[in-house]
Amino acid sequence: MDVDELKRMHFKGFMAEEEAVRLYELAREASGRGPCLEIGSYCGRSAAYLGMGCKENGGILFSLDHHEGSEEQQPGQEYFDPELLDPATGGMDTFPTFRKTIRNLSLEDTVVPLVSRSAVVARLWATPLSLIFIDGGHTFEDTFIDYSAWVSHLMPGGYLVIHDIFPDPEKGGQAPRCVYGMALDSGLFEELPLTGTLGVLRRAATGLLTDRSRMCWANIRG
Ligand SMILES: C[S@@+](CC[C@H](N)C(=O)[O-])C[C@H]1O[C@@H](n2cnc3c(N)ncnc32)[C@H](O)[C@@H]1O
Repeated sequence: MDVDELKRMHFKGFMAEEEAVRLYELAREASGRGPCLEIGSYCGRSAAYLGMGCKENGGILFSLDHHEGSEEQQPGQEYFDPELLDPATGGMDTFPTFRKTIRNLSLEDTVVPLVSRSAVVARLWATPLSLIFIDGGHTFEDTFIDYSAWVSHLMPGGYLVIHDIFPDPEKGGQAPRCVYGMALDSGLFEELPLTGTLGVLRRAATGLLTDRSRMCWANIRG
């Protein structure tokens, strides 16, 4: 199985192919330095690409989701999928589909599911991460909590990747873009080109200044 075979497969999910391939490339590069983490597994589309990149490098992907769906995926909402409803509870349950995706791709020894709320898992987390992909809840509260709970675990030189960055507010919600801007304003990250709506920031290596930090200092000095 390689990334070209992945491209021919169908997954339930919301990610454009070029974005998924970018995730694969980033995970393949980063995962030799430490585990990767994604927040928002859903049915495994992004995990398939991130996981494939990790596998080729002997790495690990932690894939975190409570599997109860985001606000917009609930019954009656825009992204509701009736096939993902658990008849026993009447609520969403994406975990069986996610497991099937990982099993079909033989990624069980690479992708480690974490079935819980993001902030709960973050509470006692202590492992440095080489890549963090934020694609969980898309309200401002959810996106900000995912960023603030996890960003301190990103190792120097690691990637912070945020999905659904829409420079034009007419095209999509602005919470991910707002948090992306906060990260950039911290001065700790270098901005890499967007791929579709996938924002990619690289945490500066220890001992290096970022363009944003130089700009901030230049503005103050006048
Ligand atoms: C947009 S979907 C993720 C799509 C996925 N990355 C893909 O490529 O198909 C968002 C997911 O985030 C999960 N989610 C929302 N809020 C969460 C939270 N606070 N903690 C954990 N998972 C959450 C939802 O259950 C949903 O499956």
